[in-house]
Amino acid sequence: MQSIALLGVATLALVQAWAAPPQEEGVRRKEKPRADIATYDSLALHNYDDLSLDNYGEIIDLSIYEELYDYDDLEPKIEVGTLAPPTKSLADILSVRTVPNEATPRPPPKAPTPKPVGPGLLGSITKQGLPTCLVCVCLSTSVYCDDANLEQVPPLPLETTYLYARFNRIRHIRAGDFARLKKLKRIDLTSNFLSRVDEDSFRLLSTLQELILAENRLTALPALPSSIVRLDARLNCIQTSRVRPEAFRELKKLQFLYLSDNKLDYIPVPLPEGLRSLHLQNNNIQTMHQDTFCDSQDPHHIRRALEDIRLDGNPINLSLFPNAYVCLPRLPTGHFH
Ligand SMILES: *[C@@H]1O[C@H](CO)[C@@H](O)[C@H](O)[C@H]1NC(C)=O
Repeated sequence: MQSIALLGVATLALVQAWAAPPQEEGVRRKEKPRADIATYDSLALHNYDDLSLDNYGEIIDLSIYEELYDYDDLEPKIEVGTLAPPTKSLADILSVRTVPNEATPRPPPKAPTPKPVGPGLLGSITKQGLPTCLVCVCLSTSVYCDDANLEQVPPLPLETTYLYARFNRIRHIRAGDFARLKKLKRIDLTSNFLSRVDEDSFRLLSTLQELILAENRLTALPALPSSIVRLDARLNCIQTSRVRPEAFRELKKLQFLYLSDNKLDYIPVPLPEGLRSLHLQNNNIQTMHQDTFCDSQDPHHIRRALEDIRLDGNPINLSLFPNAYVCLPRLPTGHFH
């Protein structure tokens, strides 16, 4: 993880250097700088505001980047002499970062640094005592915290739009974890130890479109915001008794509902009309109602969107409900004995 964080910092340094005006000619350079914490400190004082969603794709060409880097080489010394297009090496760029800049004067390196008040440029301080954007990688408004040994959601920058915190050990989502984040569109908590989600942790996130909770230990389905487009809660232990009745009725934007490999006994109804994919394979569904998908009172009702229903791996004989599929564009996948 440390190397991933380092990589992110290095990326930002590169972006800064490439975007910087040529005023750095003649600037003092250090010999063989180390990519150590002192360098991080100097990086922290720089402003990456010019890195926006509009331009970061052009500046950071990750394909070039992967060719040039051997991640293991980044520690402890950086000796990259072949970086293109600038003639500078990464080491030069990093050392330039340590030089005081006229536009943003900074105290000498040994001066006592005041403790940041509120979220700093690299985010608030995590439980590990580091700014979030050193524990995680922050690129524009995306925060990547995969495989970072996290036991709880770290304090996140207010601008966070996409959060990836996969492969950690988070057990509990607290009501305050995302509450202040008004731009969140995607939360990916795949493969954690989640078993507890406080009431309203997600329900009040009015911009949230994708919630990915796959491979956790949930027994209940958390309440969702009406903005949700995709819910992925595969590979949990969710029971029908812990899904609120009509949980999906008001989720008019929901298109993808992935609840395979859980402990569900029934298909959750009613399903929103815009739903396109319903994955319920490998549950314990034994029966369904004639009106689960269609409306037997309305022969003109057609569910155009719902083309992908998976019911395989359930102890249900789909042949027993011949009238249940008349409004569907395609039959569900499953056992028609
Ligand atoms: C499934 O249902 C059909 C239709 O009623 C029936 O003919 C068939 O025997 C059933 N299969 C099993 C394995 O129960």
